[in-house]
Amino acid sequence: MSSESYFVSSEELEKQKEYTALAASLLSVQLDHRPLAFVHTYGCQGNVSDGERIKGILAEMGYGFTDKEENADLILYNTCAIREHAEDRIYGNVGAIKKYKKSNPNLIIALCGCMMQQQRVAEKIRKSYPFVNLVFGTHVIHKIPELIYRHLRTGKRVFSCDDSDGVIAENLPVRRDGNIKGWLPIMYGCNNFCSYCIVPYVRGRERSRRPEDVIAEAKELIAMGCKDITLLGQNVNSYGKSLDCDINFSKLLQQINDLEGDFIIRFMTSHPKDCTKELLDTMARCDKVAKHLHLPFQSGNNRVLREMNRGYTREQYLELADYARKVMPGLSMTSDVIVGFPGETYEEFRDTLTLIDEVKFTSLYTFIFSSRPGTKAASMPDPVSREEKGIWFKELTDLQEKIAGERTANMKGKTYTVLCEGYAKEGVLNGRTQGNIMIEFPEVSGKELIGKFCDVKVTDPLTWIVRGELAE
Ligand code: SAH
Ligand code: SF4
Ligand code: F3S
Repeated sequence: MSSESYFVSSEELEKQKEYTALAASLLSVQLDHRPLAFVHTYGCQGNVSDGERIKGILAEMGYGFTDKEENADLILYNTCAIREHAEDRIYGNVGAIKKYKKSNPNLIIALCGCMMQQQRVAEKIRKSYPFVNLVFGTHVIHKIPELIYRHLRTGKRVFSCDDSDGVIAENLPVRRDGNIKGWLPIMYGCNNFCSYCIVPYVRGRERSRRPEDVIAEAKELIAMGCKDITLLGQNVNSYGKSLDCDINFSKLLQQINDLEGDFIIRFMTSHPKDCTKELLDTMARCDKVAKHLHLPFQSGNNRVLREMNRGYTREQYLELADYARKVMPGLSMTSDVIVGFPGETYEEFRDTLTLIDEVKFTSLYTFIFSSRPGTKAASMPDPVSREEKGIWFKELTDLQEKIAGERTANMKGKTYTVLCEGYAKEGVLNGRTQGNIMIEFPEVSGKELIGKFCDVKVTDPLTWIVRGELAE
């Protein structure tokens, strides 16, 4: 996708507005109350952001929202396919909602998201879950009004899982989950085809939003009072490559940093193969960009990295981490890592441990390899047992726990500016440092702090979170 052919036309979006009105009037005839939707999103922040747009579209169709499935007229699961366990959990949850059809015969059960984008899954739902009314993939979110209308009018099941390269629909309504922190998608899809990963198959080709659309949404978030904006994409470092204008991720970051307002900027996910020194210099220079870098390394061994098709070596990764820390002393780094990639030996896994020990991450998202049908890694020989991988996994998490404990112990007595997000429990507030470490601190009566930046002094570091008190 080199040209900008992937934007949904305004005619198509207008057509969906007509379906919005048509579906709303059918719903008002069918129900004697305002229709209620239960929407649950699984998976990554990109999916959560899609969920906010899905809820925006449903709200325009007249839906209100409920957090109780038994009260809903529409139950919608926005699914994730990243690991087998994620899929199994969703199958289980879908089976469990069938019962609500008894008490509410008008109930619409709908499934969407990454899992539905796989043909084998859509077929399984068609055959084995006949009570599911609506199934749609990741490329047709903007067509929800039409899909619901078609189901309401015919009473038939509707399946729409087109296998295209994907589109971008701008100007969809958004119903955000909160107004202190905001998700801001800057690109969709992925072209990297890491050999273990299902994302490129279910999210289509990499495509960027236009910078003016991203900036407009950033301004909207700031005007709403949002204080923590996270730019989202599977590989934000390659932002702009699909656009016909002079932009890259560093330039976009700088432009958002230059917007007026009191907020911080985060982004994820960065891919080491496209993470440039220019980007790290931009991060260092931009005062609103959090000094936190989530840079997944996946493995510390060069043979495994090659088999994973990651496009960088251990040495290149370490050099980037070094440079990042040089230009941003005190930088907090986090990462993703996979244990037990097919064919990985214990010696190779030890290279992952030494890399972790060298970089000293704040925290790690650790996963045991899960075979995803259709990916290259799914057909690689995988002789190490699950049990053995579990032992390696424990060795890794023990090491990280030790490193995290040392890092947080170092925070004692220091003061950090944190955005107060809400209550941890009664009388205790919480927030995150720029480096994404959770701090809990007692509320001070008479001070309204939620949604504000405040200075908190660390008194009691635990391993993963720290406790503190408001600094004078
Ligand atoms: N685009 C991001 C990652 C998105 S998926 C990136 O490239 O960094 C989030 C994480 O899930 C990955 O970083 C990887 O560690 C993990 N993951 C993806 N596929 C997996 C699989 N088949 N088995 C185990 N972990 C997997
Ligand atoms: Fe998956 Fe790799 Fe793309 Fe990340 S960069 S989404 S791990 S294929
Ligand atoms: Fe899952 Fe899809 Fe995200 S597979 S991790 S929800 S892109």
